[in-house]
Amino acid sequence: MTQIIRSIHEWKEVLNSRVLSGKTIGFVPTMGALHKGHASLIERSVRENDFTVVSIFVNPTQFNDPKDLQNYPRTFEDDLKLLEDLKVDFLFYPDYADIYNDNFKYKINENELSKILCGKFRPGHFDGVLTVVMKLLNIFRPDKAYFGEKDYQQYLLIDGMCKAFFLDVEIIPCPIVREPEGLALSSRNALLTKEEKIFAQNFPRLLKTKKSCDSIKSELEKIGFKVDYIEEIGNRRFGAVHVGKVRLIENVEI
Ligand code: PAJ
Repeated sequence: MTQIIRSIHEWKEVLNSRVLSGKTIGFVPTMGALHKGHASLIERSVRENDFTVVSIFVNPTQFNDPKDLQNYPRTFEDDLKLLEDLKVDFLFYPDYADIYNDNFKYKINENELSKILCGKFRPGHFDGVLTVVMKLLNIFRPDKAYFGEKDYQQYLLIDGMCKAFFLDVEIIPCPIVREPEGLALSSRNALLTKEEKIFAQNFPRLLKTKKSCDSIKSELEKIGFKVDYIEEIGNRRFGAVHVGKVRLIENVEI
């Protein structure tokens, strides 16, 4: 049975009961609308730790667009069923006031990597991500926390934050889970029409080619994508595009 924890107070009660004493904890933070990408992180945590905590919290401070927050898919009953099937021990499902007891007066802010790629197009986004992840890691003090390479920039920033603030946690990057046709799984894919989803497959297909970033960008634009950026950093190519009302991100190793 997955135990639902609705507040920090309830988590403190679990800690006081001492069931976790001397046991390892794996943690997988999510915003829900769970799919096989999330499941791959959760399965790994269940395998590698005595207890696994998954959080579902649609974190308002990381949404720079209020419409995106409003439309974000919410599928709590299905999520809970998946967590039960995966034998997750605890689901943390807090509300805003519990997490933001300070009303977001205190923030974690990074000054380099968070300002490029997605950071350039989503002002404040990574402040919201880093702040909520810092809060969650402090609540659960996990031994290991799992993040998807789907959001590679996010993973790098979180790993850097943990090192900068001496957090005693191992940040584990997990490979991208894709549809058989190549599109990376994402909660926002649920907002695409059937036609848009087929069209979106061109994005990872073109990103993987040996062409330059500029020619990939113009090819995407020619067939109808609105492109935020296509850029290479180190041995990785990153991209963000809009399909209808949905923004998609991808990255591939080159
Ligand atoms: P969310 O988009 O729900 O993703 C939760 C975790 O699942 C992230 O680490 C993300 O990279 C991973 N993930 C999503 N799709 C994936 C895929 N196709 N393959 C592999 N991993 C995938 O990322 C967030 O939530 C939030 O920013 C959060 C970290 C929870 C902070 O609010």
